[in-house]
Amino acid sequence: MLDRVNQTLRRVPVWTIYLLGLIPAGLVTWEAIHAIDPVRAIEWGLGLWAVRLLIATLFVTPLRWAGLNLLRFRRQLGLVAFAYVVLHFASWLTIDMGLRWGQILPDLIKRWYIVVGMSAFLMLIPLAVTSNSRSIRRLGAQRWNRLHRLTYPIVILAVLHFMMVGKVYTTEVLIYAAVLAGLLAARAWRNGPRSLIWA
Ligand code: HEM
Repeated sequence: MLDRVNQTLRRVPVWTIYLLGLIPAGLVTWEAIHAIDPVRAIEWGLGLWAVRLLIATLFVTPLRWAGLNLLRFRRQLGLVAFAYVVLHFASWLTIDMGLRWGQILPDLIKRWYIVVGMSAFLMLIPLAVTSNSRSIRRLGAQRWNRLHRLTYPIVILAVLHFMMVGKVYTTEVLIYAAVLAGLLAARAWRNGPRSLIWA
């Protein structure tokens, strides 16, 4: 059964992920149009899709252990996740903060959840920049793999940022944290706890 699915997936062009990646943007726009507070709807919606897509990239490896091969699509999935982080950050800078730099700069260091979100964002940049075959050749597979292990701390920081935003932990936040904990535990169980550490 899974062999058939894998065979079919091999025929699917990888750019399909970019097309599918437009759907959340459409949903966020739709929600914002109908929201009482459109600014919050855009900022939260983009952040939520960013965290969902980042977690989705972590599912690729365990799904492969289970026999489903989505490896061909991982690069595109990661880049779409990065695009949502960039849009989320841009929405904060523009529609939320109104590009008031006098307020933005202190906020970047004063609010802990911003510091955590910003750290995840900054760590994502080298991964996005090197997510092409030329960079793999230039860095060599081992160094490239090591660099891309940053994905784990990045997703941990992203979920932590999400947990820090609210004053109370909603069921939704706890579900994301539990899914992430499950993914990390699965990796540690399969490849040893050291596989989670970037070294
Ligand atoms: C990997 C990077 C990031 C991810 C995955 C992410 C994700 C999220 C999520 C899921 C939320 C909550 C949405 C909700 O409650 O429905 C959120 C809220 C927010 N994020 Fe991020 N974020 C990231 C980086 C950043 C950065 C770099 C900034 C700004 C420098 C930022 C600023 C905010 C703000 C201002 C809020 C709303 C806080 C409020 O409700 O008052 N985030 N983010």
